[in-house]
Amino acid sequence: MTAHSSAPAIETEGLVKTYGDKRAVDGIDLVIPQGMVYGVLGPNGAGKTTFVKMLATLLRPDGGRARVFGRDVVRDADEVRSRVSLTGQYASLDEDLTGAENLILLGRLLGHGRSGARVRAAQMLEAFVLTEAADRQVKTYSGGMRRRLDIAASILNTPDLLFLDEPTTGLDPRSRNHVWEIVRAIVAQGTTVLLTTQYLDEADQLAGRIAVIDSGRVIAEGTKGELKASVGAGSVHLRLRDAAQRPEAEKLLRLALDDAPVTLEPDPVALTARLTGTDGSGAAERASRALAELARAGISVDTFSLGQPSLDEVFLALTDDAPGSGRTVQEAIA
Ligand SMILES: Nc1ncnc2c1ncn2[C@@H]1O[C@H](COP(=O)(O)OP(=O)(O)OP(=O)(O)O)[C@@H](O)[C@H]1O
Ligand SMILES: [Mg+2]
Repeated sequence: MTAHSSAPAIETEGLVKTYGDKRAVDGIDLVIPQGMVYGVLGPNGAGKTTFVKMLATLLRPDGGRARVFGRDVVRDADEVRSRVSLTGQYASLDEDLTGAENLILLGRLLGHGRSGARVRAAQMLEAFVLTEAADRQVKTYSGGMRRRLDIAASILNTPDLLFLDEPTTGLDPRSRNHVWEIVRAIVAQGTTVLLTTQYLDEADQLAGRIAVIDSGRVIAEGTKGELKASVGAGSVHLRLRDAAQRPEAEKLLRLALDDAPVTLEPDPVALTARLTGTDGSGAAERASRALAELARAGISVDTFSLGQPSLDEVFLALTDDAPGSGRTVQEAIA
């Protein structure tokens, strides 16, 4: 493995990629430190894959600059390539070969000797719980098995920087958890991981810092705590017994919570008020006062919860400026 320099893992300045008159990546400035999982979160078409492909030297930027460990992705492409690995959204395994054959072939291509490649493949298959499936053709694998094999292939030679482009899209909860464990183990070994995801909870689980991107631009960047704090003190979630009382509940909540934005959920008895301000203890007090107001007005509340802002709410708040756009985004990433 190449020695780590002190440069950030990734640094971009005004990075742009256009397709025709579409700016898929529209001026991204980011500094991504070494040694962490960095989450790039955004809905379909936000520009995540395009961004990652430029960093992995698979696409040439149309504007701006990007450096990986201090090396320019265009000028020093070979050097960058030697330190990074990419697990794509669309896996690049040979379907007709077995899992073991895929890894052995790749190991040979990466310069391992015949027995070295075999040993490494066997280690990986075991670590990724694929030993039993090792001698089956990849075309017989489930989506989760395929994804694990794809990640195994990308870390056969431990890269300094690993791009994981939506590694868990389409996986069931158990397989997602499995991939999350793998990602944590990879980072614990010192590899920096740039992970793209449409799932807010995934970024929440794994990433130390997060950039939220939409339409090719960064709309927020920071630690999870910073992103959540930027949205306020949290949210009050209510489910009413009677949907007919929702309009009045909405009005009362807004009043009792000092003009807090109230969202009507798709579920006709549910509503959410986003608390403004940053004082957590004050939030609980204000929420219980609001509940008392509802009770006084004869509105029956079925369930109630006061939560820390979730990344979902962060995303909604960030994309809220166009009416209804938050809801559309939320549906897109649900
Ligand atoms: N080869 C291409 N030719 C033309 N347009 C493209 C091409 N690749 C991507 N785009 C467009 O660029 C925009 C960003 O696409 P990109 O694949 O980077 O998004 P994404 O965030 O990875 O989305 P997803 O979550 O669906 O994977 C989209 O509008 C897409 O249609
Ligand atoms: Mg993509």
